[in-house]
Amino acid sequence: MCGIFGYIGDKKTAPSIVLKGLKTLEYRGYDSWGVAVVPEKKTTEKVIVVKKKAGKIGNADVVDMPEGSLAFGHTRWATHGGVTDKNAHPHLDCTKTIAVIHNGIVENYEKLKTKLEGLGHRFVSETDTEVIAHLVEEYLKKYSVLPRDAAPAFSKAVQATFQELEGLNAIIVINTAAEEMVAARNGSPLVAGFGHGENYLASDPAALLPHTKQVHFLEDDEMVIVSKGGIHIFNAHTGQRVRPRKQLLTWTAEETEKGKFPYFMLKEIHEQAGLLSEIASESPEQSILIARELKKAPRVYMVGAGTSAHAARAASYFFSLIAGKLVNYGVASEFDHRLSVIPKDGALMALSQSGETMDLLEVVKKAKEKNIKIFSLVNVVGSTLWRMSDEHLAIGAGPEKGVASTKSFITKIAHLLLIAYAMTDKVKEGQKNLIKAAKSTKIVTSKAHTHAIMALAKKLKDEQHLYIIGHGLSYCAALESALKIKEISYIHAEGIPAGELKHGTLALVTKGTVCVVFAPRDEHYQSTMANAMEMKARGGYIIGISDKNEEIFDEFLQVPDAGIATIIPNIIVAQMLAYYLTIERGFDPDMPRNLAKSVTVK
Ligand code: F6R
Repeated sequence: MCGIFGYIGDKKTAPSIVLKGLKTLEYRGYDSWGVAVVPEKKTTEKVIVVKKKAGKIGNADVVDMPEGSLAFGHTRWATHGGVTDKNAHPHLDCTKTIAVIHNGIVENYEKLKTKLEGLGHRFVSETDTEVIAHLVEEYLKKYSVLPRDAAPAFSKAVQATFQELEGLNAIIVINTAAEEMVAARNGSPLVAGFGHGENYLASDPAALLPHTKQVHFLEDDEMVIVSKGGIHIFNAHTGQRVRPRKQLLTWTAEETEKGKFPYFMLKEIHEQAGLLSEIASESPEQSILIARELKKAPRVYMVGAGTSAHAARAASYFFSLIAGKLVNYGVASEFDHRLSVIPKDGALMALSQSGETMDLLEVVKKAKEKNIKIFSLVNVVGSTLWRMSDEHLAIGAGPEKGVASTKSFITKIAHLLLIAYAMTDKVKEGQKNLIKAAKSTKIVTSKAHTHAIMALAKKLKDEQHLYIIGHGLSYCAALESALKIKEISYIHAEGIPAGELKHGTLALVTKGTVCVVFAPRDEHYQSTMANAMEMKARGGYIIGISDKNEEIFDEFLQVPDAGIATIIPNIIVAQMLAYYLTIERGFDPDMPRNLAKSVTVK
């Protein structure tokens, strides 16, 4: 949460470079944005110039600010303080010579604020972040004995400030007296990028792609001093130097662009057929390795948040249906009670697009403390989860920028299906199923099918509630479909096990209640149809998603059968329905209100 981008180098257009960087990070938070620059022109009273505003960044490529070669900026997802211009980052100290941007929550900010106010500091925002600027100011006074000592004094002041912060935080601080950015991380992600005559900091490696592919992912309690000439890393507590662990990013800058699509979400939906074919044809070596390890473990637990938790749930069905292995799964924010009973020789499989979801990282951290082996499926290679895992598999979805997960969910599911098949030495059968799923996906995303989905979205756009039902894997599809519809179109949608309708939800069905039914031709087909009939008999308006039309369907979206992998095209149809419902209702599918991608706070 919150996008961070910082630049220092030869170019004098640092504010505009930062603005562009922020635009690539807007999916991390879009309540407000801001840029700060140390102006190039020396004035007698040199202060940091800040431009910040509530709302989205907009289309401008250049920010109207003084020239400078040191600037940083922030896109906000509000935690402390309302969404106002004043609460947007960067925040300044009293002298306006120190600026800070921050991702996380300073848990002891009230105590610090009271202390600082007592020392005469004046606060202008309601944020926890502002205490950081004033605290650095206070320490800088203490450490700046001689003016020529300014640079080391500044980093020492940031270090002392960081040590006082409680909670999980990433901070970057700049100062008019030192030509550098000083940053530190505990919990929230931060990446340093190595350029030529210029260097960078960002919250997300994808933002660095137009500039450099050489990066260092900061570990917890690492500090970094980024100047034009270099990047120096050290331990925030001991001060000991840390060797940069340079890593090469594999994504390209073009992959982070929208291309011909109006929204990232649509682009990402359309990438899925190709990604499925790729996964089906690449070497399954890593899936086989993980399958072997999971097979050995007496108990396997799967965990994720949001859409990734739905992938974990679906995987538990794959593992029992395909590999005969009972797998326990759960959502990360509700996993604590399971942690205490996982045996030492158990295995924890963590699923995540970003590899930075705080609820998930907390589970993994606690599991590691118990010496439980961690396996992960991650999209962002090098992310915190990636580095914490004993074995990891890159799901290979490429940059995903729509806040609603689409291709990262589908690629996770595809790999989990292969792992389940690999557990019974039948990985080839898994690959065949993925090829079927890719073919079916191509059909459901074709022009003709898209038109049918668009027409349905038009009909449903004013609905307030949608019920989505399915049995077995289709129940997992129902849950994920409901999440997609809710989060971007703001229509209340609920995924329900088809067999559970009669245990409560049927009471809500009246004439015209819309019910989406996933009815693939599997062992549950007949009972699903019977459940759909229960809805229909009470006035329900039935939308069938199946490979065959049935009389009880009032609307029908065809999905060619792909065996056990039919869950894949089924969910893709729901992604498209969610997308077109959102367009019909006039909302932005890439940036749903109140949400942000990569949830790095608890
Ligand atoms: C919903 C969505 C979220 C994420 C969740 C976990 O469309 O994207 O529910 O799935 O925040 O994120 P990752 O997978 O990055 O751990």
